[in-house]
Amino acid sequence: MDHMSRIEMLIRDMTLVEKLGQLTMTAAGYAVTGPVIAGDSTDAIKAGAIGNLLNLFGAGHVHELQRLAIEESRLGIPLLIAFDVIHGHRTLFPVPLGEAALFDPDAWALTAREASREAAADGIAMAFAPMLDVSRDPRWGRSAEGPGEDPWLGAQIAGAKVRGIQGDDLSAGEALAAVAKHYCAYGPVTAGRDYASVDISERCLHEVHLPPFAAAIAAGVAAIMPAFTDLAGIPMTAHVGLLRRLLRDQLGFDGVIVSDYNAIAELMRHGVAANLSQAATLALKAGVDIDMMANAYRLGLPAALQAGAVTMAEIDAAVRRVLTLKERLGLFDQPYQRGAAPESGAARADRRRLARSVAARAIVLLKNANDVLPLAPSVRRLAVAGPLADAPSEMGGPWSLAGEPATHVGVLAGLRAALPESEILHASGVGILADDVSGIPQVLDLCAAADAIILCLGEAADMSGEAASRAHPDLPGQQRAFAQAVIDRARMLGKPVVAILFCGRPLVVPWLVEQADAVLAAWFLGSEAGNAIADVLTGSVSPSGRTPMSWPRATGQIPIFFGQRPGGRPADSSDHFRSRYLDVPNEPLFPFGHGLSYGRFALSKLRVTPPHARQGDLIEVRVDVANDGARIAQETVFLFTHDRIATVARPLLELKGFGKIELQPGETGTLTLSLPASELSFLGLDLQPVFEPGEIEILVGPCADRSRLLVGTVQLLADDRPPVCSS
Ligand code: NOJ
Repeated sequence: MDHMSRIEMLIRDMTLVEKLGQLTMTAAGYAVTGPVIAGDSTDAIKAGAIGNLLNLFGAGHVHELQRLAIEESRLGIPLLIAFDVIHGHRTLFPVPLGEAALFDPDAWALTAREASREAAADGIAMAFAPMLDVSRDPRWGRSAEGPGEDPWLGAQIAGAKVRGIQGDDLSAGEALAAVAKHYCAYGPVTAGRDYASVDISERCLHEVHLPPFAAAIAAGVAAIMPAFTDLAGIPMTAHVGLLRRLLRDQLGFDGVIVSDYNAIAELMRHGVAANLSQAATLALKAGVDIDMMANAYRLGLPAALQAGAVTMAEIDAAVRRVLTLKERLGLFDQPYQRGAAPESGAARADRRRLARSVAARAIVLLKNANDVLPLAPSVRRLAVAGPLADAPSEMGGPWSLAGEPATHVGVLAGLRAALPESEILHASGVGILADDVSGIPQVLDLCAAADAIILCLGEAADMSGEAASRAHPDLPGQQRAFAQAVIDRARMLGKPVVAILFCGRPLVVPWLVEQADAVLAAWFLGSEAGNAIADVLTGSVSPSGRTPMSWPRATGQIPIFFGQRPGGRPADSSDHFRSRYLDVPNEPLFPFGHGLSYGRFALSKLRVTPPHARQGDLIEVRVDVANDGARIAQETVFLFTHDRIATVARPLLELKGFGKIELQPGETGTLTLSLPASELSFLGLDLQPVFEPGEIEILVGPCADRSRLLVGTVQLLADDRPPVCSS
């Protein structure tokens, strides 16, 4: 019996109830005493009426339920168990936005691989990751879960994450099915408010929001989850044009489409379906295979079928895709292989080490006046203050369902471990959100006793992620008053202040950046946060993270991103009638790509070869990088392009590459970045790709600040024309 025939025979034998069961995913919570499944779920599994579960982990619990499906249901079809394995599972890595700051595809893949291994050992077969929604709006809390502001970066992350989660062979016991989400254009929700309506141009959709999903599909992603949102009035869960036509027909995606939580029922709230049956019909017609938590397929499709609104062939096609995925995952042949054996202590210890090194590399050193960092050996007494100084459970960030907060390392513990000879003084001062300021004087007293002050500020973990939009993406509660008081006191005493920001988004804190001696973005770094921070503060690791989102000076600058078009009146301070604010500069406080290290890098001698290129050519961009600083450090160099004259106005900078080089003090090296000329094509007037001859600027440097980029050019040639000249 070959694989297809097994599936076809099953479909032939299945009742409607059993078919709809395969299209249904239900949440299973678990308590200490064992699985507690919503309502009638245990019976429903036995009846074949639930084929997929989420929110369940632990090999024992998973296998117990799997056994019900395999041994007690009529056809013995295995359950698919899915979980939000977003940035780690039990061992937590930095939130995705923080991990994006690594600009390291191997590391992106490796953490995904390790998270999958750990989740697979817990019986899970599908990860609701990677989240690929480009975000240019720090108000949107889900910025924390994604790749940041740039589509090209998002595409690189997509490929690496899918490879990491799925490996080469989905049927391997440590591989999970990846779910690229949330398809698509969820990031530009109106005013940064989660779940709000989205209305963007078709060009923006294709240029900015689709590329990461196309990359995930190219990497073989097993499943895709439509966003909760609508695009110009069409909810993604019912979007025939974007799901069935674009995803399936054009991009050739033949995997599973799994709805978001209750999203099919929410088609009624969107105002496009009057009842559950209509909602189910719309979703099925659009190509949604699995209904997560709405029970719309189970309850709504029988009537739709009877009324002729959907066909059995449409239902069968969805069932076929679900069963095919289960088969690819090896669930039919080895339903208990995931979670068959506990992981070794050594494997878990290695993973913690990885979590520590990745967390250290995700930290972005935003400011370091007078090289106050790394802390000088003369710093013997350190004040570690602020509401996030001793907050290990917050370090996990917004997606840490299986995380083990008791094992998280906070800043205080990390510094105490790293500096056993130093005296570490601690007080919180204020809470993250609370109004009580009575603890501030205690911290001011510590300032007098300490050689340096580490201020741990920011958001609580649950202030970013889903349903966590903020109109004021700055320091909550009384933290500003607290930080200001500490900075004033420290300045009076001549003590340096290092501010560490915990956040799932860029925060709008220009006043802090101006006044603190050093500022670090620590995002939410995961289980090893405190150790990683200690590694950077003490200098055992030179920071190398680069921000994947622009940091605004003012909330009014949002949305803010480097890939803007020039417009007809680009900013120019000598002319009033230009595109600019009266009260703040246009530029962000920190541009995309910004991040300091303990080295001091200078770039020179940009070389672009060959000077002319046709669509199939590879352009090589070389640049010399010198470390003029006193410490070994790693530099990230970005490659941007700008097509100055094209039939459609192009963004002022487009990211097309990045590279890293580690250099000893005084060392110079050459970095080579490859640019396939085909990447310089763009969507023309009709939204079809065009490769237009002409001059392209090649801009290379440390961040998306044009004034800091070396500029070269390449001439693009139409395929039939010989080079104009050769040198
Ligand atoms: C809703 C979220 O939007 C999605 O990202 C997540 O995977 C599901 N809930 C399942 O928890």
